Amino acid sequence: MSIDRLLVVGAGQMGSGIAQVAAQTGLEVALADVSMDYAQKGVDRIARNLTRQVEKGRMTEEDKTRALSRIKCAPDYSAGSDVDLVIEAIVEDPSVKSKLFTELASICPPEVIFASNTSSVSITAMARDSGRPERFIGMHFMNPVPVMKLVEVVRGLATSDETCNTIVDLAKRMGKKPVVVADSPAFVVNRLAIPMINEAVFALSEGVSTAEGIDTCVKLGLNHPMGPLALADLIGLDTVLSILEVMFTETGDPKYRPCPLLRRMVAAGRLGRKSGRGFYEYS
Ligand SMILES: NC(=O)c1ccc[n+]([C@@H]2O[C@H](COP(=O)([O-])OP(=O)(O)OC[C@H]3O[C@@H](n4cnc5c(N)ncnc54)[C@H](O)[C@@H]3O)[C@@H](O)[C@H]2O)c1
Repeated sequence: MSIDRLLVVGAGQMGSGIAQVAAQTGLEVALADVSMDYAQKGVDRIARNLTRQVEKGRMTEEDKTRALSRIKCAPDYSAGSDVDLVIEAIVEDPSVKSKLFTELASICPPEVIFASNTSSVSITAMARDSGRPERFIGMHFMNPVPVMKLVEVVRGLATSDETCNTIVDLAKRMGKKPVVVADSPAFVVNRLAIPMINEAVFALSEGVSTAEGIDTCVKLGLNHPMGPLALADLIGLDTVLSILEVMFTETGDPKYRPCPLLRRMVAAGRLGRKSGRGFYEYS
């Protein structure tokens, strides 16, 4: 099946990145959020990103204009009645995602594929609400989407081979490296990364070192490009906490209990880069 028209729901850092790369690939994209204002913010962010690419000489002004012309701000989800694929990139909350897929199921014809960019929520469980479990799949892009090569393609219990092949082909068209993984809490990347971030927050709260000290140890000692606390700020501390909560709830394993300091940071609105302050401050 060929994917030419796409609805992206959620115009935050991931949804806008997905919309940008899809438009650069030649897809027609509708971008929706809770309101037109939020969707427009996503389009503005894409325009800024593309302008930066032009300034760096990585793309031409014409390519930028062409990509932007393929993205439309959607006031609601009605664009879903005339697309091939919906990619969901809203808040990492299982009940909010389930509610959205129930609504989308009543708008989108049954042949439309639904993909979730979730970091941790069960694909099989969300597929149940979608009315099309065989055409439901995880398409887990990495942050920032235009830069990071990997896409975890997550098969739910009922995902068909045809759906999986279609999404693997699309990821390749978008210049990504797809890896097919099974539906298991937090899949592969976050199963490894999120416990490391949580442990770094415990180390910080126990006074083992400063945020800079912990990140420097990991960067220079493990040769990671970014320390775990800086990575948490990039992901968003609210999203990190939600992923840990899903891992803890799904497995019952106490090794995934979120560090109390992480909870306090989220309660204080220190969400990382997106709020201007997390473990570090951003201007
Ligand atoms: N941040 C990361 O590094 C990262 C990486 C991979 C995947 N993800 C996943 O991508 C998803 C989005 O994360 P993000 O970092 O872009 O978050 P974000 O906070 O930047 O954006 C979320 C967007 O969803 C919108 N939204 C919330 N509820 C909605 C609803 N009911 N309907 C429509 N829109 C709604 C919000 O208004 C917001 O614009 C999450 O599932 C997250 O786990 C995040």
